[in-house]
Amino acid sequence: MDFSNRQNRFVRLDEVSAEYLEHIESLTQNDPYYPSYHIAPKHGLVNDPNGLSYFNGEHHIFYQWFPLGPVHGLKHWYHVSTKDFVHFKDRGVALYPDQDYDQHGCHTGVAVVEGEQLNLLYTGHLVYEPNSGHPTQVLAVMDKDGNIEKKGVVVDYNSKHYTHNMRDPVTIKRGDDYYMLIGAENHQQQGKLALYHGKQIDAYQYKGNVDIGIGEFGYMWECPNYYEDADKAVFIFSPQGVSSDSKYDFKNVFSVVYIVGKPIDTENRKFDHQGYFELDKGFDFYAPQTYLDNKGRRILIGWLGNSKSEYPTDKNYWAHMLTLPREIHIEGNKLRQIPLAELTALRESSEALRPQHNLTSRAFELELEVEQDFIIEFANQGGDKMTFSGNETEWCLDRTHVTETHAEQFGTVRYALRQSNDTLVRIFVDHSCIEIFCDLGETVFTSRIFVSDLNQLHLSKAVGQIHYLSGVHYE
Ligand code: FRU
Repeated sequence: MDFSNRQNRFVRLDEVSAEYLEHIESLTQNDPYYPSYHIAPKHGLVNDPNGLSYFNGEHHIFYQWFPLGPVHGLKHWYHVSTKDFVHFKDRGVALYPDQDYDQHGCHTGVAVVEGEQLNLLYTGHLVYEPNSGHPTQVLAVMDKDGNIEKKGVVVDYNSKHYTHNMRDPVTIKRGDDYYMLIGAENHQQQGKLALYHGKQIDAYQYKGNVDIGIGEFGYMWECPNYYEDADKAVFIFSPQGVSSDSKYDFKNVFSVVYIVGKPIDTENRKFDHQGYFELDKGFDFYAPQTYLDNKGRRILIGWLGNSKSEYPTDKNYWAHMLTLPREIHIEGNKLRQIPLAELTALRESSEALRPQHNLTSRAFELELEVEQDFIIEFANQGGDKMTFSGNETEWCLDRTHVTETHAEQFGTVRYALRQSNDTLVRIFVDHSCIEIFCDLGETVFTSRIFVSDLNQLHLSKAVGQIHYLSGVHYE
């Protein structure tokens, strides 16, 4: 299908033939860049994780899905669940854009666990066009057997305060009160966080904007995420339209920001804190969400991709994947991200790394001890490579010399200032993605890496282990 014709982005899943879907699924599954242990679409495009939750004995992961190709079209929620992050249940489409209020897409939203039911709050688009629209916030409820029922609109759009860019609700419960925060753009093209209050999960009143205290900061705030942990609160959001002259900051088309502060004062609509930070320093990371699991862990998953770029896999009718799950911890006013402990169960075999190491698979993890001025190259025989290096003050991820570049207009090198003297670096590679954890998880680089026939590692001033990882299993 040709998606340069915008109308084709609104073609419905049941309007295409089974042969078309089989064809694009086989192109997708045979793509050498398709991952084996990251969540990726069977075909089409995945973007934001949605409805992350621990419910009825399992972790539930929903995500934004356009089934028909590698573009942002009519969005569905797709659903997988897992007990251990190795074995997954493929639960298929959870939300179809099949009601008048969401006929132009079931966009991003969250889950709120309440007893025997999982409440899904998301943005439904009655109309979603580049310069107009009618977004509403919608409630759907999933029971323990996985049956989902849409309950309808809980916040209708009112154009008085915001443009049609108003979406991605997050609802939190404090005692008997529900607070819904929604990402928005006001009529002066400033990013805002709208606050609603309700005594029930399905009825809210508008309260106004929350004063985040960072002045003008982009034109639209997508995917707000918010949680409280004792006397602290974490606000994560994906602002559009923020840039910086510093080589360290805000280099992607859109970036993700977090702020650790005090719980939002909902009466005065104020959020007190000590400042904001970028959550990730790589090329491809956006729209993360967090949730609390049964062990009390706060788990984060993001979209391993970015908007407004063509990716080398587009030709095979799929795009993007989700990041690995990461446990997050608050340290002062910073966050640390640690790959979830369950991921060690993916290890199949391990070897000590040699300075020139031939790879037997493209799904692996590295546990490294690095000296100052280290260099690690992820390469093929022809000399194409992605490089991760460091010196006394900074980390550097360079994809200038990969086989297939994308989004070069945003530069091909990313830098981050070192935040500690820690010398341990953990790296996950899965065919065409890389996740790098350093500074004890305070600095993370998440990126796609398109080195064809990736089969060599070159290490200078770095030693450690390689663990080859199995794929995850779906039933
Ligand atoms: C962020 C985003 C959200 C929206 C969703 C649509 O990537 O644009 O604001 O709800 O994706 O798929």
